[in-house]
Amino acid sequence: MPEFAFPDGFLWGSATSAHQVEGDNVHSDWWAWEQAGRVKEPSGLACDHYRRFAQDFDLAAELGHNAHRFSVEWSRLEPAEGRWDEAALAHYVEVVRALRARRLEPIVTLHHFTTPQWFALRGGWVRPDSVEAFARYVRRVAAALGDSVRYWVTINEPMVYVRMHYIQGLGPPGARDLPQALRVIEHLIRAHAAAYRVLHGARRGPGPAPQVSVAHHAPAFGPCRRWWPPDRWMAARTDRVFNWALLEALTEGRWVVPGVGKWRIPEAAATLDYVGVNFYGRQFIQWAPAAGAWPGASCDLGHHPREVTERTSYGWDVHPASFVQVLSRIGRMGRPILVTENGTYMQDDARRWDFILRHVQAMARAFQQGARIIGYCYWSLLDNFEWADGFGPRFGLAEVDYATQRRTIRDSGRRYAEICRANRVEIGDMEIGDSH
Ligand code: FCB
Repeated sequence: MPEFAFPDGFLWGSATSAHQVEGDNVHSDWWAWEQAGRVKEPSGLACDHYRRFAQDFDLAAELGHNAHRFSVEWSRLEPAEGRWDEAALAHYVEVVRALRARRLEPIVTLHHFTTPQWFALRGGWVRPDSVEAFARYVRRVAAALGDSVRYWVTINEPMVYVRMHYIQGLGPPGARDLPQALRVIEHLIRAHAAAYRVLHGARRGPGPAPQVSVAHHAPAFGPCRRWWPPDRWMAARTDRVFNWALLEALTEGRWVVPGVGKWRIPEAAATLDYVGVNFYGRQFIQWAPAAGAWPGASCDLGHHPREVTERTSYGWDVHPASFVQVLSRIGRMGRPILVTENGTYMQDDARRWDFILRHVQAMARAFQQGARIIGYCYWSLLDNFEWADGFGPRFGLAEVDYATQRRTIRDSGRRYAEICRANRVEIGDMEIGDSH
């Protein structure tokens, strides 16, 4: 059976985020949102990972991983404006030490959907001085971790964050407001640029230079109705707004979407050392007059186009061929790619394994087409709190019994471990599907 060998030093691991696993994140805006009854169920103790991190990292090491992505929780470090919790900072120093002790390369995210509640109450990312507030926090983190962390993700999925929190109203502050959303995008770009400079300036030791990026959610967009030109136009536009405008801003320092906005952000030019890519599948777009210039609504499940033949238990499209396409396109930017998330919720674990295998094979194919990929993080190590959808969707390589906090490694986790250890994948019967 032919195999594809990944380069030496390829990073294999999984990803988590603070609010989704740590538990008792009482100072964050998401916590307040949950307490206000705005979601199905509150995050509560989640996976109790704040206390059980060492045991969870044992599990990652047992699964053959050599890297792990996690996020630092700003609201723990700065629970009230200007009040810094040194014990929380020491906790994350300990977390990085625990990863290094297990030969797991830390990949550290600084913002993964949550902010301190005080920051949210004074206007969150809509305010221009949100950038300086974030930079202040990053300076603290960089001073504590800068010498022991190489890979950084400043902001997780800026575009998803904006869509979910400021357009769809599905997370705090629950806004549905395009002008506000645009301000937030601009400030997130500026915040990334500020963090980039802080992280590069903070390295004192002799080690390799930091590698800084965002984790960019990059779906393949298609029209709901292939035969309907307005849908095709809207899908292309969504691709422009959602996938490319941000990457252009972070490489060229300008954000341009005709009919929506145009800014020069010179400080953001050349602030991607690699491109962090989160990929879950295709999204189908419908022309929606009410949406105006903003990308139209996605098809709901009942209206999925005929080409969607495979779905996760969440209803999401499964299409590894699009992963090849997305990686190859982004690869042409000439920067290394780190897959910061790819994963699935499948009730049938055999289907989870099939998903992982085919997406790793897709990555191999993208490699063959010239993309320079440096690592892959499966989402997620553990079942966890899936935002507005609560604990229902289970993405973990390990199952979590929330009543006892017991972790049980799934068969898919063990099989993925074989790929991680071998640093190669069989590609003989590479069935990643067609590529419409
Ligand atoms: C991504 C988010 C992550 C998780 C997965 C399923 O968009 O970054 O927090 O919710 O989806």
